[in-house]
Amino acid sequence: MTDPLKLHPATLNALKLGLFALVTAALLGATYSGTREQIELAQLRMEQRALAEVVENIDHSELLLEDRVEIPAEGRALLRSREGDQIQLVRNGQNQVVALIIPTTAPDGYTDAIRMIVGINLAGVLTGVRVVEHKETPGLGDKVDLAKSNWILSFQGKSLNNPAAAGWAVTKDGGQFDSFTGATITPRAVVRQVRNSLTFYRQYAQDILDDAGTGAATEEMEP
Ligand SMILES: Cc1cc2nc3c(=O)[nH]c(=O)nc-3n(C[C@H](O)[C@H](O)[C@H](O)COP(=O)(O)O)c2cc1C
Repeated sequence: MTDPLKLHPATLNALKLGLFALVTAALLGATYSGTREQIELAQLRMEQRALAEVVENIDHSELLLEDRVEIPAEGRALLRSREGDQIQLVRNGQNQVVALIIPTTAPDGYTDAIRMIVGINLAGVLTGVRVVEHKETPGLGDKVDLAKSNWILSFQGKSLNNPAAAGWAVTKDGGQFDSFTGATITPRAVVRQVRNSLTFYRQYAQDILDDAGTGAATEEMEP
């Protein structure tokens, strides 16, 4: 009589193989979810760093970056808003709103749309701009990324009237913002969209601040 517990070698091999597959799948699954969490965390950190950076001439020690508000529906076209985009209110230690951080997308980059965040203080002056996502060509269009060049810092301190309308263009088009040699399309797209963000601010900031409730720090707004 054959021992019921004694398995045929082929069955045993199949079982071993099955067990190996199960263990491997479990290990892969664990590694994948760990990696995904790490990527999400890295993205969150990147976003927070960028948010803090675009308000760089405002005292950081007391800044709160907690509340976000919806973008007024009528203003979404100007910003080329995407699903989930919200405006970040920047408050100081006295809970006064001192700046808005506005997400916006330049639709006409060379390769694809260019995602940015634009910090604007209550005087309507740019506190900083950062490209947070792009697919422009390395060595050509990617100079809009602070990791590659300081070009994006040239927006700081500018406003809708500084420079005047004609100056809001790249040098190749007669404006004030440097062009990149052989790659004008990318900086042109960014300059246009930063200006659109300032126009959005002029048209909608007051409503946003009124809705936000707590006292906005009073500052003379540019005409
Ligand atoms: C492979 C390839 C990649 C390019 N990538 C970019 C880019 O990322 N950004 C850009 O503005 N132009 C890029 N260009 C150049 C544009 O086609 C275009 O010639 C240029 O933006 C016009 O700038 P210019 O007026 O200074 O000549 C690329 C061209 C090629 C052939």
